[in-house]
Amino acid sequence: MSPTATAETLCGLFFWKELGPFNTQTGSTPHGQPPEDLPPQPASERERMNNETGTIERVVATRGLENVVAGRTKISYVDGTGGRLIYAGYEIRELAAHASFAEAVYLLWNGDLPTQAELDRFRTRLVAEMRLPSQVIEMIKLAPPSAHPMDLLRTAVSALGMYDPDADDRSDEACARKAVRLLAQTITLVADMHRVRNGLPVLSADTKLGFGANFLYMLRGRSPSEEERSAFELLLMLHLEHGLNASTFAARVTASTLSDMHAALTSGLGTLKGPLHGGANERAIDIFEQVDDIEAIESYIDGMLNAGQRIMGFGHRVYKTEDPRARLLRKHALHLCQRADLADLAARAERVEQLVMEKKGIYPNVDFYSGIVQHALGIPKPYFTAIFACARTAGWLAHIREQYADNRLIRPTSDYVGPWDRVAMPIGERS
Ligand code: COA
Repeated sequence: MSPTATAETLCGLFFWKELGPFNTQTGSTPHGQPPEDLPPQPASERERMNNETGTIERVVATRGLENVVAGRTKISYVDGTGGRLIYAGYEIRELAAHASFAEAVYLLWNGDLPTQAELDRFRTRLVAEMRLPSQVIEMIKLAPPSAHPMDLLRTAVSALGMYDPDADDRSDEACARKAVRLLAQTITLVADMHRVRNGLPVLSADTKLGFGANFLYMLRGRSPSEEERSAFELLLMLHLEHGLNASTFAARVTASTLSDMHAALTSGLGTLKGPLHGGANERAIDIFEQVDDIEAIESYIDGMLNAGQRIMGFGHRVYKTEDPRARLLRKHALHLCQRADLADLAARAERVEQLVMEKKGIYPNVDFYSGIVQHALGIPKPYFTAIFACARTAGWLAHIREQYADNRLIRPTSDYVGPWDRVAMPIGERS
């Protein structure tokens, strides 16, 4: 085996590479032979013994932690090669066909789909918690009008922790209460934020409506049609959970310090905002705002690709085939466009998809169609990522509680590539 040929995953986070024989005298690399009677020993935490080969290997970082297994979960599985997304054993298309968003949340939080009686109780509790402390509404009013909804959501969720009677209680019962409250409050925050910022009165949840329908009602001031409700519920369900993505990992890292649930959610929110993660759905519809002539789309895309820019809403780190969420949402998106008199948008979306596939061989991801669905539902673009965040809040909450239940502080190490053995000179002697 060559000195750099070994590369295996140990302990999940890092890859190890063989460096050569070990020197117990210097402790530095490359090493000399160990004395006959002593087995080789790692000289520092940057090295580990490979018991299979009997050699010392150096820790080497994997950029972006790609393909690194960093934890165990029963919550979901993303099968990038097969193009499947599995929530607690159920393929997403099964759930999309037979369950609502609230049922999927119940599944992730409890491990099983609810019975009708369990679902009724769960929905009632969720809708009852769709209200905010008056101080948080005041905070929304005081925020600069230019603040992005994701910034306001992140700040408000953090603030909610100061008004939550269970904030510092990590018992199972308190976490269950907080989970319901937080899921209900985040989506209420988005609806109320929009109303406050537009000088409209904040609306109370309608107990006759479900979770998704209530959000549309509280945001727009009118109940959704059945078609709108089912498209929005599906959108929420498809954004609910997605393995150990960047924001979920961030939330789990925070939870692993035994910090509180509001802090862990705030970490997730800050991470989701980035344009390479949740922020893509807002940018995905930029193309339709900039090009309204279907004939001009090709030259627009060529221009972006030639300039080395990314087409937002396309590509995925894990899916090497079609994103199953995009497949499920496409039908609803195109249908809603027809109904909302946006047929031209549907045609342009199909053209963009066709061209990006032809030119780059890349599939659309869920953000491409979620942007279109939200646009067709009359949701203003700056709220798209915040709505994604509201759905993902339920996934983060499942992960936070899973982390608490079997916690070990997440504290990886890094591959130090800086200089060694420098001598610190007094300040007057430095050049
Ligand atoms: N538009 C154009 N080209 C893209 C692309 C996109 N959206 N996504 C990937 N590519 C290209 C890269 O330029 C690269 O091409 P090259 O090999 O010719 O240089 C190749 O595909 C591989 O890209 P890479 O950056 O290694 O993939 P990744 O796994 O790091 O990227 C994303 C994953 C999501 C960051 C990336 O696809 C992206 O930036 N997409 C746009 C943002 C988005 O929609 N995010 C939401 C994800 S759900």
